[in-house]
Amino acid sequence: MTSTNGNIAGNPPCIRVSHVDKVFGKKQVLFDIGIDVPYSRILGFLGPSGSGKTTLVKLIAGIDASTRGDVYLLDEKMPKLDMMSKIGYMAQSDALYGELTAEENLQFFASMYRLSGTRRKQRIEEVMQLVDLSGHLKKQVKLYSGGMKRRLSLAIALIHEPPVLILDEPTVGIDPVLRRSVWEELYKLSRSGTTIIITTHVMDEAEKCDGLGMIRDGRLIASGSPEKLKKAASSDTLEEAFLFYGGAAR
Ligand SMILES: Nc1ncnc2c1ncn2[C@@H]1O[C@H](COP(=O)(O)OP(=O)(O)O)[C@@H](O)[C@H]1O
Ligand SMILES: [Mg+2]
Repeated sequence: MTSTNGNIAGNPPCIRVSHVDKVFGKKQVLFDIGIDVPYSRILGFLGPSGSGKTTLVKLIAGIDASTRGDVYLLDEKMPKLDMMSKIGYMAQSDALYGELTAEENLQFFASMYRLSGTRRKQRIEEVMQLVDLSGHLKKQVKLYSGGMKRRLSLAIALIHEPPVLILDEPTVGIDPVLRRSVWEELYKLSRSGTTIIITTHVMDEAEKCDGLGMIRDGRLIASGSPEKLKKAASSDTLEEAFLFYGGAAR
């Protein structure tokens, strides 16, 4: 993981964020963000609430455009509409149809991605099993708990087997047992070639990522593997390291 604000070497990464600023009205929320994500890795953006994580992953997913700077994903400059099929995006707030059943929600998204009838049926079964919701397929989503909605959103992000997954706080409200199984699945996916970005404000979750970008007040204050980040800060914990880099950036 290297910053594009520094040296660039080797093959193009799966995702490249280069000198990205984002301004809403008069308020700048992202400042000169640069990071590369190699193929088949899990990158976490770690930062407190309001630091700019959601804004950043929306730019990477092509849901919004940067004010300055570039985002490349699979060698395409984002945002680009027909990249939707290549990305599984899970928003921080669940975008589900409450009046519909889980199955109908999955059908809707599967048809959007033009999955064939047989594949659609098979994928719906697979993803619902994965998030442990197989028994709740016929239930209206408005009757789901918060954690169940998160799990269904994850299932939807996975339905078309995209090469890139972008998950905004995917495990919020999910119990520890299921959280572990979600992480096992993320590892499995990354080992089989999927590139994954997640956001989190939870340290133990950040610890599980291959690479981390620490974000504070819209700035990337450090990036690298959790091990490297702790070592360079002479810290035993990521929390300590975060405070170290945050202080150094002031
Ligand atoms: N559409 C918007 N218009 C104006 N300000 C926004 C908008 N979206 C986000 N922000 C602001 O950008 C900052 C970063 O927000 P966000 O990216 O949601 O952070 P995080 O996901 O880390 O909690 C916050 O101050 C938030 O209020
Ligand atoms: Mg957010």
